[in-house]
Order: sequence, then C-alpha cells, then structure tokens
Amino acid sequence: MSIDPLLSWRKEFPIVETCTYLVSHSLGAMPRRTSTYLQQFADEWSSRGVRAWHEGWWEVGRMTGDLLAPVLGAAAGTISMHQNVTVTMSIIASCHTFGGKRNRIVMTDLEFPSNMYLFEGFRRYGAEIVYVKSADAMRTDLDALLDAIDERTVLVPLSYVLFKSACIQNAAAVIEKAHKVGARVILDVYQAAGTVPMEVEGLRADFAVGGSVKWLCGGPGAGFLYVRPDLATELEPAIVGWAAHAHPFEFATGKIAYADAPERFQSGTPNVPSLYSARAGYEIVREIGVPAIREKSLRLTRRLIDLAQQAGFRINTPEADEERGGSVIIDVPDGQRVAEELIRREVIVDYRPGAGIRMAPHFYNTAEEIEHAMEMLVSIVGAAQA
Ligand SMILES: Cc1ncc(COP(=O)(O)O)c(C=O)c1O
Repeated sequence: MSIDPLLSWRKEFPIVETCTYLVSHSLGAMPRRTSTYLQQFADEWSSRGVRAWHEGWWEVGRMTGDLLAPVLGAAAGTISMHQNVTVTMSIIASCHTFGGKRNRIVMTDLEFPSNMYLFEGFRRYGAEIVYVKSADAMRTDLDALLDAIDERTVLVPLSYVLFKSACIQNAAAVIEKAHKVGARVILDVYQAAGTVPMEVEGLRADFAVGGSVKWLCGGPGAGFLYVRPDLATELEPAIVGWAAHAHPFEFATGKIAYADAPERFQSGTPNVPSLYSARAGYEIVREIGVPAIREKSLRLTRRLIDLAQQAGFRINTPEADEERGGSVIIDVPDGQRVAEELIRREVIVDYRPGAGIRMAPHFYNTAEEIEHAMEMLVSIVGAAQA
C-alpha cells in the first residue's frame, strides 16, 4: 500500500490524536505552531508595548492577506482582513447605492443565511432582494439564477461551494452573466478556500470573501476581502474608519481621503491576535498546496460516499468529483441525535437541518478514520432501528 505523504502533517495537529476529527468544514484543527504565533503576539505586547504597532502590528492585515493570496489565486495587495464574512459583505454593500433603478440583490435560497439577514437590512436603503428558488436542497437552478440577473441587479452574492450540500457552483457562468448586464458578483469562498483550488482573479470575480475558521485552520476572527484590482481603485466604502485613510496618523477631520487598496477597505484597528493565529494554517495550506489537498479530499470523500451508499444512506452531496467540495452530507433518520452520539463516541462531525450529518476529511485525516466513522454511524443508526 502506498504511504500518504500528507499524513506526516498529523503530528502538527494535536487534536487528531485524541479523536476522529471530521469537522474541518466547521472548525479546522489547530496547528501546533499557532500557539507559537499567539505567544509571539503576547510577548510583543508585553515587551514592546505601544511600539509594537510600528514594529509590524499595523501592517499585519496586509501581510496576512498577502500570505493568503496565492491560496485564492489572487495577487499580493488585493486582500484586506476583517472580523468575519458578515463584516466583509457589509463593507462591499456600503460601496453601492440601492436607491435607483439598479437596486436588486440576487441570490439563491441556498446561500448562507447571514447574507440574507444582512441584505434584508438594506431594504431600508431601497434594495430589493430577489431569492432564486433552488432546484432541490443540493443544487442551485443555474438557468433561473442567470435569468434573474439583469440590468436591475447591483450585486450577486454567490457561494463557490454551498454550505449545506458542498456543491461547487458554476461561478464562471454567473460572473459572465453579471458582467454582461453590469452587475457585480461577491464570491463567498468560505467553504472552498483551503480544500478546492481556485483562481478568483482568473474568474474575474469582483469580490471574494471568506474566513479562516474552516479548511484554512486559521481560527476565528480572520475574515478576508478580495477586491478586483481595477475596481478597488474606484470603490468608496461608506463603512470605513481611520485605518482606511491615506494618512491615518495625521488624524485629519471631515471626509476621508481613501488609502489605496487593500487598506481603503479597512475599518479601524486591526484584529492583531486573530491574524497571528491565522498565520500557521495559511502557511501549512500553502506549503502542502491546495491541489494536493484536493486530490486527497476527493479520494476520502469518494470512500465516504461509497460506504454510506453501501449502508443504504441517502447522500445530499453531488457524487461527481468536479461538482463536489470537501464535505459529504449524509441524511439519516434523527440526524441531530445521531450526530450527538457520534460526537459522544469521539467522532467529531456536525448536523445541519434539512441536509444531514456533515463529514469532512482534510489533509490530516486517514483512510482508517473514514472507515471508523462510518462503522460508528452504521452501528448507531442500526441500534436505533432495531
Ligand atoms: C459559505 C459561508 N459563508 C459565510 C459563513 C459565515 O461567515 P461569518 O461567520 O464569518 O460571517 C459561513 C459559515 O459557516 C459559510 O459556510
């Protein structure tokens, strides 16, 4: 049997020695070196105090964005860092107006609910929100989505990989249609970044947003915002703060003089500890390379699907490799309770209503863990039905 070279990374992730960790679509395992970076942050604060701002802290957003850029297929200097995706979406929305004839935000009903909650709030500024009904719980109706994007459309938030089904969406087709009618696409790459290779620049995405909690193993508090370089020079976010000023330390009053990108999309003081925390995961994902992660992910998710089907379970994830992201969603009776029992048995997964139990192998998982998780699942469901 050939040895999986990615398994040498297991020793860098302490939690995988304590349980069967199959939940990287929710919270990626913490790398050992994250502790080193967080300790470095504490040491700098403790020993350098306020001087730390000018010894690296002030630039930490740009530096972190540049570290991430190749993982997304973006150039250096195109990514700013924020607390989470919701904040990045708000900043993007604040670059646009919704009072005229072009006032629509078009998305499918399979988008992550935050997008809906956020953009619903923009109705007060004149926005009209159009939800395109999906074909089923797994896939968007692409034709219906393309038809809904027209000259009245301002923005199209689009998950590259859907959180409920792990279906990879046809971003190229949506971006092409949006650009034809003068609309802009916000590609939400959260469920893809670190497990599905991508080229946000090649796709001509107007914006790409995501966070570090999941496949990037970067922990909470490090959301990212990519803006297409030619757009970035003309956009003027209304949600903005002093860190977005061209000369923040002059503390000029009145209207802002925007910095160049990516700082012009910054709000206030950077979230330094979260950005130190994110560094280790980004470094590791870069070092392994997303294509190698993807190759292994496809192999293990295929095995999960085969075993689940042999057990007679329904799969709510596309079976075709080219359409499948990093997780497999398995629909079993009483899924919430079954997921709780799996966790009690140290098989760490999660459950989403209307979808099922989500399992997500990452580069640090073994083929044996997949077999073990499925054995546990079969025995729990079997016991409940007996
Ligand atoms: C596709 C997608 N977008 C957005 C979010 C939420 O992001 P945040 O909590 O950073 O706002 C999630 C979280 O699970 C997600 O899966």
